[in-house]
Amino acid sequence: METIHLLIRNLEGKDANDYYEIYSHPDVRPRTGNSKPFSDLQAAEMHLSEIASNKNQFAIVEKISNKMIGKFKISNYSIERAEKYFPELLELTKQGKVLTMSYAINPKYWNKGYCTEALKKMVEYTFIQLGAEHIILGYFIQNKASGKVMEKCGFKYKKTIPVAGFWYLTGEKRQLVKMALSKKDWKKLSKEN
Ligand SMILES: CC(C)(COP(=O)(O)OP(=O)(O)OC[C@H]1O[C@@H](n2cnc3c(N)ncnc32)[C@H](O)[C@@H]1OP(=O)(O)O)[C@@H](O)C(=O)NCCC(=O)NCCS
Repeated sequence: METIHLLIRNLEGKDANDYYEIYSHPDVRPRTGNSKPFSDLQAAEMHLSEIASNKNQFAIVEKISNKMIGKFKISNYSIERAEKYFPELLELTKQGKVLTMSYAINPKYWNKGYCTEALKKMVEYTFIQLGAEHIILGYFIQNKASGKVMEKCGFKYKKTIPVAGFWYLTGEKRQLVKMALSKKDWKKLSKEN
């Protein structure tokens, strides 16, 4: 897949150094979940070798430098979470038509619009190629940049859920903001833009 500045392809073993550069940064892994940053290249290589064969893991490559500067993962939304937080989407979730994504961009490349550009393309791919009807995304309430990216791609606020643990930067209680976009609304947006 291709956007103005980016190529989006599956992960490859050769991405190890770039993968390490992204996920060893103290502000990346802790913003996506509970994992600690990689402390050495070997740990990143091992993790990459475990996930590289997954066809729903994507490398974001900056065209001009041919460098992997980000990663996206697409997965099915969990049935347990749909039961709890989105019962209205439970049937579609059971049919595998509610998907979710996680993403990260190398901090050296933040605020250039790259994540927004990539997410727009991944949304198109998820609705058209993967046949999703809804996409549900979540970000920790303190992670304003991620929320901004979701809004710029048409995602709408649904609910805020308290989660275990504390925000690693400030010690505040963590809350997960859930945002969603339906295929119907995405089509409407695509016509308008
Ligand atoms: C979230 C992340 C992927 C965004 O990547 P990016 O390529 O910098 O995103 P974009 O440049 O497309 O957009 C970022 C937007 O957030 C805004 N932003 C950045 N920091 C912000 C802050 N502290 N408060 C409010 N807005 C902020 C930028 O101004 C920009 O909005 P604009 O285009 O309207 O000016 C990146 O910060 C990242 O990898 N973070 C660590 C991992 C992570 O948080 N992943 C998401 C988990 S839900």
